[in-house]
Amino acid sequence: DRQKKIRNFCIIAHIDHGKSTLADRLIEKTGTLTQREMEDQVLDTMELEKERGITIKAQAIRLVHTTEGGEEYILNLIDTPGHVDFNYEVSRSLAACEGALLVVDATQGIQAQTLANCYLALEHDLEIIPVINKIDLPSARPDEIKKEIEDVIGLDCSDAPLISAKVGLGIDDVLKAIVEKIPCPEGDEDAPLRALIFDSYYDSYKGVICYIRVKEGTIKKGMKIKLMASKKEYEVTEVGIFRPQYMEVPELKAGDVGYVCASIKNVRDARVGDTITEAEREAKEPLPGYRPAIPMVFSGFYPTDSAKYEELKEALEKLQLNDAALIFEPETSVALGFGFRCGFLGLLHMEIVQERLEREYNLDIVTTAPSVIYRITKTDGEVIELTNPTNMPSPTEIEFMEEPYVKATIITPSEYVGAVMDLCQNKRGIFKNMEYIETTRVMLHYEMPLNEIIYDFFDALKSRTKGYASLDYELIGYKESDLVKLDILLNGDPVDALSQIVPKERAYQRGRAICEKLKEIIPRQLFEIPIQAAIGSKIIARETVKALRKDVLAKCYGGDITRKKKLLEKQKEGKKRMKQIGTVEVPQEAFMAVLKVE
Ligand code: GTP
Repeated sequence: DRQKKIRNFCIIAHIDHGKSTLADRLIEKTGTLTQREMEDQVLDTMELEKERGITIKAQAIRLVHTTEGGEEYILNLIDTPGHVDFNYEVSRSLAACEGALLVVDATQGIQAQTLANCYLALEHDLEIIPVINKIDLPSARPDEIKKEIEDVIGLDCSDAPLISAKVGLGIDDVLKAIVEKIPCPEGDEDAPLRALIFDSYYDSYKGVICYIRVKEGTIKKGMKIKLMASKKEYEVTEVGIFRPQYMEVPELKAGDVGYVCASIKNVRDARVGDTITEAEREAKEPLPGYRPAIPMVFSGFYPTDSAKYEELKEALEKLQLNDAALIFEPETSVALGFGFRCGFLGLLHMEIVQERLEREYNLDIVTTAPSVIYRITKTDGEVIELTNPTNMPSPTEIEFMEEPYVKATIITPSEYVGAVMDLCQNKRGIFKNMEYIETTRVMLHYEMPLNEIIYDFFDALKSRTKGYASLDYELIGYKESDLVKLDILLNGDPVDALSQIVPKERAYQRGRAICEKLKEIIPRQLFEIPIQAAIGSKIIARETVKALRKDVLAKCYGGDITRKKKLLEKQKEGKKRMKQIGTVEVPQEAFMAVLKVE
């Protein structure tokens, strides 16, 4: 009957539909934090996360709710990341719960991530409670949205709470639904231990803190444990719960959510999805669903100041302590010098790492255009995985090449269908099908090369649909493609860091577009700079950056002094992320621009 008083749940939503705001209201309403402690959006703690307004890492909090009848319930709320890069973490958080609140914005209705998250939750057999948020807004259409959820997802919305998380309306209905609808946990407290790690953090005092859901058995201090995937053994030094600060408790039993510390040195040894069992009484099988995080996107990271190589290495090592998905290895580029090839879950993950390096470690970094992993079958039968376009073998050694594909789901107002299809076509999308969600909104399914999606697809999609379209995608595997390496030469020298793998039939067009783009980006210098695109030894495009006229500054001298200042300041700023390549100064933008052309 201890378990009967526990509810483990998470909140799933499309980005900005109000997940964090609802979490805040639940925390407030259950009196888990005093008003003074109540800081807006407690669940999003990392500074970066707050600024970007997105949830990066899953976290958990324990709420104590007293019902009208005076009964006390423990509600464990597990927060889930809100971005496709972190979908695996989402799936592990869901696996730790029995139910989910599905928050849908009453002005926007179902969006791509609403569906993606909802399907994930259904796969884990969670009880899903639809919650209609933002009913305070004049443009709210709660009845239509309810019908939409019933039609598209098939969830009963007859008594879905209609709420405003912002002004605190309807929160009691949500709490009531959690207690009444979400099943309590089950699981034998005396069975051999099986606890799911749904998140882990490195703490310099406690070592790795594993966030766990105990499925079976009991875990307590002093116990010898074994991690079933990593096969490593440890002794538990502390177990506790989230109030939300860490609070030590004597033990955690089947059904509980909490944390465990066991002098684990690195998050890599306690990966999300692994199962903790007893060393002396091992469970027969681990909990289902474990897989190591697999980086999908690779990029070269180089310090702008080559003297900072060691510093960059140390910083990456420190970040890695807390980020099991980040991998890196030393790499040398003729153009950029010594750096690292880093692997990420996706572009957002990459941007986060880059920002942290710059902000927390004060490093200036030049990053090369992100690349997916290409699979190459050579004529001699060897299969290689290519993460850096520069290292592509010569065409005569290649039997065939494959690239990763995703299944993309796009939801858009119907008036933009044409524009969206046009964009997808441009990005080598293979149209699958199209369905109407309501009379005015359409869901499109495409298969598309991951490479076409990773960089600016989302931005392009947003700009073509005035911000109304939403996107979700998942990897479906590799497909054969006819690809070539496109090299860029500056001043006659190939710049390895600008090499890119492109579909053969687009090579000419891309080559031209890249040269044009680089011409705009590379600042004029005292001499003329030819920019060329080449496939093998064949030059396919050429542009020229004209030499700077020495009197650029002289011209505004005496005339407009502020203009001169501005010019100088602009130059200074531009200097920041510039890399000297041979005799040419190349700004950071150039490395990304190669991916941005259509
Ligand atoms: P991510 O963490 O980025 O996935 O977003 P989220 O789903 O957690 O959304 P969040 O709670 O950050 O809310 C997004 C925006 O909607 C914020 O500006 C909120 O203030 C606003 N918002 C949330 N709930 C309501 C509501 O009930 N009414 C109104 N008017 N605005 C709301």
